[in-house]
Amino acid sequence: MITIDKHEYGGKLMIDGKPFIMLGGELHNSSAASLDDIQDKFAAMRLLNINTLLVPLSWELIEPQEGHYDFSTLDCTIDAARARGMKVVFLWFGTMKNAISCYTPAWIKTDTKRFFRAQSIPGHSSWTVSPFCREAMECDARAFTAVMRQIREVDQDQQTVLMMQVENEPGILKARRDYCPQAEDAFRAPAPQELIGYLAEHKDNLAPELAEAWDRQGCLTGGDWTEIFGRDADEVFMAWYIASFVEHVAAAGRAEYDIPMYANAWLIMGPGYGPGDYPSGGPLAKVMDVWRAAAPTLDLIAPDIYSPEFRRHCAEYTRNGNPLFIPEAMNTPLAAATALYAIGKEAICFSPFAIDDISEGHPLEETYRLLADMVPVLTDAYGKRKLVGFLQQADEERFDADLGAYRFNARTNKKLAECSVPGAAILLSLSDDEFFCVGRNLTFTFQPKSADRTGELVWLDEGDFKEGKWLPLRRLNGDETAHGTGVMLRDKLSAVRFKLHSYS
Ligand code: DGJ
Repeated sequence: MITIDKHEYGGKLMIDGKPFIMLGGELHNSSAASLDDIQDKFAAMRLLNINTLLVPLSWELIEPQEGHYDFSTLDCTIDAARARGMKVVFLWFGTMKNAISCYTPAWIKTDTKRFFRAQSIPGHSSWTVSPFCREAMECDARAFTAVMRQIREVDQDQQTVLMMQVENEPGILKARRDYCPQAEDAFRAPAPQELIGYLAEHKDNLAPELAEAWDRQGCLTGGDWTEIFGRDADEVFMAWYIASFVEHVAAAGRAEYDIPMYANAWLIMGPGYGPGDYPSGGPLAKVMDVWRAAAPTLDLIAPDIYSPEFRRHCAEYTRNGNPLFIPEAMNTPLAAATALYAIGKEAICFSPFAIDDISEGHPLEETYRLLADMVPVLTDAYGKRKLVGFLQQADEERFDADLGAYRFNARTNKKLAECSVPGAAILLSLSDDEFFCVGRNLTFTFQPKSADRTGELVWLDEGDFKEGKWLPLRRLNGDETAHGTGVMLRDKLSAVRFKLHSYS
């Protein structure tokens, strides 16, 4: 049984009761379209200590003719993963892939009458099948159900496939909303009571952007979309209908085989970007509540983080107990830093995109090796507020964090341009005064929480982890600990365990 055990501020992925962290990578979009490629990719990625690959599953290959299925890429992916002791998350490239319907089979693409398109300008069809197209939704759900049935039949016992991403970066591009006739009718109709009821029930915990939009209009509990959400109506409306489409597909598949599912978001890439510059209605943090109300089958929503504001996006996607799952991130050496930060924020999956572009020697390789050997220690701390992640995003940054009986201050060692990998670390408390710290390019000092006392290292060991066990290798002191006052992580990835005490 694969579940996400949720707690107040996130969750833990469990496989038959045993915790797991996906140290992942997402393949290029067309890397799993040939059986030979699939075998080659898994072989290469295992060498990088990746334990889970996020693999596209293309509707056009799965159902080339309506009602006729070809599961060869699906079966091959599962076999290739198993042969190397790896896990899989399938990415269902169905009706929406980057908000476009380019992965639909030819019989869908070419029949624009049966599978009518969204309209970004009234009267002009776009490249996306409309989320108001019931026929497309039913066909997508039927194909996804067939996929889930096949996974259940071939994998229920071995549980190679851990999760499903339903569609990919869904939403509507180049317009704030769909203007096809069916969408126009829905937009003029009263907003659904299921949504309003959800908002009323969760009024004190709504995403601030949505709470503000609703509040600005007087927190109406009835009316059409514009009356209730004012200038945000287009995006909230699209979020409801896109999420409802995804829900229909996800629920049909999950009834066949029950494993966790999620939807991923194309984020707002900078100031001045409005709905339609990014997929309007997609699972952005600001409309997380709309997605929760419309798509209860999904366990979480997930950000694809390509922006330099990695920390902010993690904060937004851990609101209200949403477990952190990062299906796409930059695959540059930065990934070795963002991986540490994400796991410090208790991510259940971290996965750079285009992972098949990286090769041995990339700093992610040693980072994943260390994290893989730490999984029991890390997952033991998940849900207990015993972990903190640190990440350098600019020159000369400082961070504070309270852990155990101490307030820690971390400062960056170098300017970003001078680091092989930006400063990043995980700090984990074993007790009030004993800690693990792993990472690079940061220096920590500490102060007891009681202000009249001074903190000092009792001892500090540098070491390593092997299959969940700590292996001390050398005691550090003197210059290497600023004479008992600091924990110094240099440019090379390192792991230390230390004990503090305080005196008055
Ligand atoms: C985000 C998408 O989700 C991926 O499938 C891929 O198209 C990347 N963008 C390309 O950068």
